[in-house]
Amino acid sequence: MRVAVLLLLGLGLLVAEGRRDRCFFNRTQEYCVCYNLSEETMSSIIQCLSATVVEFQGGDLEKYIAFPIRDLAPSAIETLGSLVIQKIIIGNVLVPEILLARVLRFFSYTHVQELAFESCIFQGTGNWSAMDGQTLPIMSLSFHNVTSSPLTGHEQAFSSLGRWLGTLQELAVTGSRVTSLPCAIGRVFGALRSLSLAQNSLGDRSLAPALCQGAFPRLQKLSLHHNRLSSYHSVCEGVGLLLELRYLDLSHNQLMANSSSSSCQWPASLRHFNLSNTGLDEVLMPLPPNLEVLDMSHNHLRALDLLLSSLKKLFLSQNLLQAVPSIRNYPRLDTLHLDNNSISELPRDEVTLLGRLQDVAVADNPFSCSCSGAGGLQALAASGHLGQGWPEEYRCQSPAQYQGWPVAQVPVSVLRCHLAAMVAPLCVILALLGVAGAVCLLRTRPCSRA
Ligand SMILES: *[C@@H]1O[C@H](CO)[C@@H](O)[C@H](O)[C@H]1NC(C)=O
Ligand SMILES: *[C@@H]1O[C@H](CO)[C@@H](O)[C@H](O)[C@H]1NC(C)=O
Ligand SMILES: *[C@@H]1O[C@H](CO)[C@@H](O)[C@H](O)[C@H]1NC(C)=O
Ligand SMILES: *[C@@H]1O[C@H](CO)[C@@H](O)[C@H](O)[C@H]1NC(C)=O
Ligand SMILES: *[C@@H]1O[C@H](CO)[C@@H](O)[C@H](O)[C@H]1NC(C)=O
Ligand SMILES: *[C@@H]1O[C@H](CO)[C@@H](O)[C@H](O)[C@H]1NC(C)=O
Ligand SMILES: *[C@@H]1O[C@H](CO)[C@@H](O)[C@H](O)[C@H]1NC(C)=O
Repeated sequence: MRVAVLLLLGLGLLVAEGRRDRCFFNRTQEYCVCYNLSEETMSSIIQCLSATVVEFQGGDLEKYIAFPIRDLAPSAIETLGSLVIQKIIIGNVLVPEILLARVLRFFSYTHVQELAFESCIFQGTGNWSAMDGQTLPIMSLSFHNVTSSPLTGHEQAFSSLGRWLGTLQELAVTGSRVTSLPCAIGRVFGALRSLSLAQNSLGDRSLAPALCQGAFPRLQKLSLHHNRLSSYHSVCEGVGLLLELRYLDLSHNQLMANSSSSSCQWPASLRHFNLSNTGLDEVLMPLPPNLEVLDMSHNHLRALDLLLSSLKKLFLSQNLLQAVPSIRNYPRLDTLHLDNNSISELPRDEVTLLGRLQDVAVADNPFSCSCSGAGGLQALAASGHLGQGWPEEYRCQSPAQYQGWPVAQVPVSVLRCHLAAMVAPLCVILALLGVAGAVCLLRTRPCSRA
């Protein structure tokens, strides 16, 4: 029993008797959260058994280090196999690695696909040899705000865990002050599709060594937002060996142009590129050629002149653009966001083109509500493709009489707005009628019979 208790404690799946409620199960969300992991938690954990997500918050496993852990009885294996738990979150726990190393293999009897550690401290180094050649059902592993001893002391762990890590699909190590990643680690993750190293301290010199030849060979998605990257060129060179990369998020770094940047080629596979909040005054070149989604919102761009024939979504909110970029350059575009720029008017022919997109947003711009200005926006809104924000966040800045008005309420009737345009033809018609009348009068017969 001791063994089972400890195992289940280690896995966070504790089955025992008792009274105190420390776990709370939300049936609608199939989510169970347990506080202060300890032997007392066991009494309550039984109610988590039908949850798909179980979260453990707080606790100290240090005192269980000395517990002996042996192999499981067939009945225990069967119990683990019957659980529906898919994701386990461990938060604010002090985790002795020696204990983790001993219980991790028991995950092979479960259906747990995701394991997440948040605000945990990993202590010491474990003996991972029990994991030699083992695989686990866990496909997604994440660490957020964790502290551990340096990775360099963990070669044995990586080699023992290699078989499993070689099948892992998703890995996130975020908010954990990571400054570098040894080349050899990337080579272990042969099947990894998604890697997030966001909110760390990676600099320009950390990327190329981490993404060395043979590292993360199947990587499709890389998130590097909120780091200390500054050279666009170094990033381009750093990811150059990731030939399957489709998605790259560099948002929240302060990127700068680099005179030699034009020589670097981004992986041709890149489709989704996030440069939001990167301090850009101008578009940095080159851009990946086959992009479908480009986010350059929250920058200081004043103009944009790009040719990206496969682009489908372009996000440019929170910039200093004074005009709508010419969307003729993006024949496949379906989404364009231009909120909070300095655009005062949408030209008529642009309105017609914008009306063909599925999702357009131009809220919080200083609109000029001349007849054509307000009329263009109203026509666009009528096409039904103006995204959220219409009508409240579309207000006139000029002329003075409409300042602060919602654009939607500016009267743009044909008569008011097109008076000048209509006067001339009207005169001609009247003049012609007048001539016709005069001709009639000069004739002897009444016009009505003519
Ligand atoms: C379960 O979660 C839902 C959605 O977050 C929430 O509305 C509900 O109040 C929760 N139920 C309990 C018992 O906490
Ligand atoms: C967990 O332990 C902390 C202190 O260690 C205590 O303040 C808190 O109330 C405990 N939470 C539960 C749900 O028992
Ligand atoms: C990060 O984890 C530490 C414990 O290791 C905790 O004290 C701290 O509050 C956490 N920070 C955040 C932002 O969650
Ligand atoms: C790790 O454990 C194995 C047995 O499981 C043992 O043979 C080996 O010596 C241990 N290694 C270390 C470094 O303690
Ligand atoms: C441009 O990038 C190269 C390679 O990363 C670097 O050595 C050089 O200092 C950078 N130049 C500038 C002006 O930032
Ligand atoms: C780009 O990154 C920002 C900030 O990290 C995020 O809010 C935004 O949704 C991302 N854009 C796209 C298109 O995924
Ligand atoms: C618009 O952008 C400016 C500067 O980029 C920012 O200060 C302001 O908060 C933004 N306004 C809205 C409504 O988001």
